[in-house]
Amino acid sequence: MPDLPERALVDGHGRRITYARISVTDRCNLRCVYCMPEDQAFRPLPHLMTRAEIARAARLLASLGVTKVRLTGGEPTTRPDLAGIVSDLSAIGFPGGIALSTNGVLFPRVARELLAAGLTRVNISLDAAEAEHFRKMARRDHFEPVAESIRLSLELPFESVKLNAVVIRGFNEGEVVRLAAWTADRALSVRFIEFMPFGDNSWKTEDFVGWEEMKGWLEAAGYVLTPVEKDPVSGPADEYRVSSAAGAHRGTIGFITPVSDRFCDSCNRMRLTQDGFLKGCLFGHRDVDLLRPMRRGASEEELLALVEEAARTKEEKHPMFLGMSRLSLPLHSRNMSEVGG
Ligand code: 5AD
Ligand code: SF4
Repeated sequence: MPDLPERALVDGHGRRITYARISVTDRCNLRCVYCMPEDQAFRPLPHLMTRAEIARAARLLASLGVTKVRLTGGEPTTRPDLAGIVSDLSAIGFPGGIALSTNGVLFPRVARELLAAGLTRVNISLDAAEAEHFRKMARRDHFEPVAESIRLSLELPFESVKLNAVVIRGFNEGEVVRLAAWTADRALSVRFIEFMPFGDNSWKTEDFVGWEEMKGWLEAAGYVLTPVEKDPVSGPADEYRVSSAAGAHRGTIGFITPVSDRFCDSCNRMRLTQDGFLKGCLFGHRDVDLLRPMRRGASEEELLALVEEAARTKEEKHPMFLGMSRLSLPLHSRNMSEVGG
């Protein structure tokens, strides 16, 4: 482990924490069927971390050896001060980059400003390659600006542009091959995500599609997938180079397999919810409150100790990998948008 800062975050299972996902809002301008109900209630605004509080938390994380951050939500672009948040993160300095997960609806309006503020990577969520299936998944008619976000982010000098699609049987199976086709002439990484049980998203085994089945659909459509050697900081996607009747594709295809595959062993991440709780695991139930101590005037040392506590108590594996079957999975009490996607 080179360049260990004086105090580094190492969890109770020997994993070094170098990557933080910071959720900046629970609000969203879409209502994806797998994420939130149509009538989702949002937290009162004063419960959300302010720009200054986010910067303070990010400084604590950086001083403990976190080198890469991602801003998530809800939908981060619904925050009017997002570019300010990104520039605060740039000033702190994250050598592994500052990434954004966005649904792309408002992104075209702010992309240049975010790039100028220091954003380095963009992940766009898109579950369908055309408007009709998009509406079915997102319950809103905003396909066009999202497609524009992809065009624009590929044009701008971001370090990487990835597209994330959640696959649900009966909703968007057909979109897997259509979205994969976009990698033919674009330097785009298209990743298919297994649908996870979460909050009240009414996950059923019948709706679930495992990555091997998705890969089978691509192969049946004439795609040849060759595994790319794994880059340990790029996260849990299994990435493949692709060729098809169109020849060798410029982009790649990946699978994010939280349900059927375990990637917990190499987990290097910690999450901060929009209301200021540190979470070691997406499915974990051990939250460490950072925001209320911060608001009560806790010292830097006390806050650092809280971040260390969150690392120490990080779960070893998802509960679903600790001997529980899928059907008996405890549903998380928060939706994904409330934890940070
Ligand atoms: N299963 C899988 N991925 C999900 N996301 C949200 N909810 C789920 C779920 N139930 C992911 C999607 C979305 C991002 C915010 O989080 O990729 O775009
Ligand atoms: Fe919004 Fe993302 Fe949830 Fe869809 S998945 S409703 S875009 S937060």
